[in-house]
Amino acid sequence: MIIDGNIKSNLDLAADLLRHGEVVAIPTETVYGLAVNAFDTKAAEKIFQIKARPKSDPLILHIHSTQQLSSLVLEVSEIAQQLIQAFWPGPMTLVFKKSSLVEDIFTAQLPTVAIRLPKHPIARQLLEMLEFPLAAPSANKFQSISPTSAAAVEHELGDRVPIIVDGGPCESGIESTVISVVDKPVVLRLGAIPLEDIELVLGHKVEVSVSSKENENQVAPGLLSFHYAPRTPLTLVANIKDLNKDPELLNEAHLLVYSNIEKLKAPLGIPTHVLSPLGSMQEAGRNFFSLLRAIDQQRPARIIAVQLPEQGVGRAINDRLMRAQHT
Ligand code: TXA
Ligand code: MG
Repeated sequence: MIIDGNIKSNLDLAADLLRHGEVVAIPTETVYGLAVNAFDTKAAEKIFQIKARPKSDPLILHIHSTQQLSSLVLEVSEIAQQLIQAFWPGPMTLVFKKSSLVEDIFTAQLPTVAIRLPKHPIARQLLEMLEFPLAAPSANKFQSISPTSAAAVEHELGDRVPIIVDGGPCESGIESTVISVVDKPVVLRLGAIPLEDIELVLGHKVEVSVSSKENENQVAPGLLSFHYAPRTPLTLVANIKDLNKDPELLNEAHLLVYSNIEKLKAPLGIPTHVLSPLGSMQEAGRNFFSLLRAIDQQRPARIIAVQLPEQGVGRAINDRLMRAQHT
């Protein structure tokens, strides 16, 4: 059931359910999350079951204040502090050495824990009402498209989640950027905060080590090479001109492009969807999953996506398109 998160009594209900070990879908500024009490291992089991997610895929803990952080981690380095100053509250997840308070099921047995302080006012209000952090993965079935609205959560998991707190459409629309600060900073998942912004704050280039087919499960366990996928087969092309080389591919296909400029270059007669009519990466990020979901529901024979410029949020979108490819 969807309930309006702007109504205080609804948040009271959500908080009560969470205190009793239930699962509640909540809005964040990135995507909707499937939340449980981060100190309740039985509740954690439910998440893996509902999502059909393997236990080797660790969860992110959500907090409302930096005070909460100190009990969950062993050390907050100077670099971590710099990043926290710049990007919290917001769509950045940091990976720390975990304290003994964090149970293994949340971290897939790793000695580290991923933590984020979200910006969404309803997520924050709920976190402030609770005596514990919330563990929350994206509220979709394993490897499927992340939900950026309450209706999308209902569509994905409505039959398995008792309460979905509606906080409107997600502002970023792309998951948080995951950065390890255990040692030198390493980006483990490209996300809503662009690499350029992180490098600007730290004053130097930052290593990006997102997992791929070759090193699966080595850096960010759970960030699989196949992920974020629609049911419809998806092909990613580097350039819109590449489409002329393979007219077969266009049969009954829908096209997904960045801006109106590309749409003008699209082959005639192919339904073409534009991620950002205004030509901004932020807008493209906000629309990405919802547009992909909408196209998927039209059941074309194929979705052909054209790579975005490798800059800003475009990098994170390209990463997800790469993982969404299948035939
Ligand atoms: O924006 C987001 O981060 C959303 C919202 C709901 O907060 N959550 C989200 O969670 O995207 P999820 O579970 O779909 O993705 C979390 C990813 C994992 O797949 C894994 O790659 C990484 O975060 N992660 C979690 N704990 C980690 C750890 N200890 N070390 C390395 N990577 C970790
Ligand atoms: Mg996810």
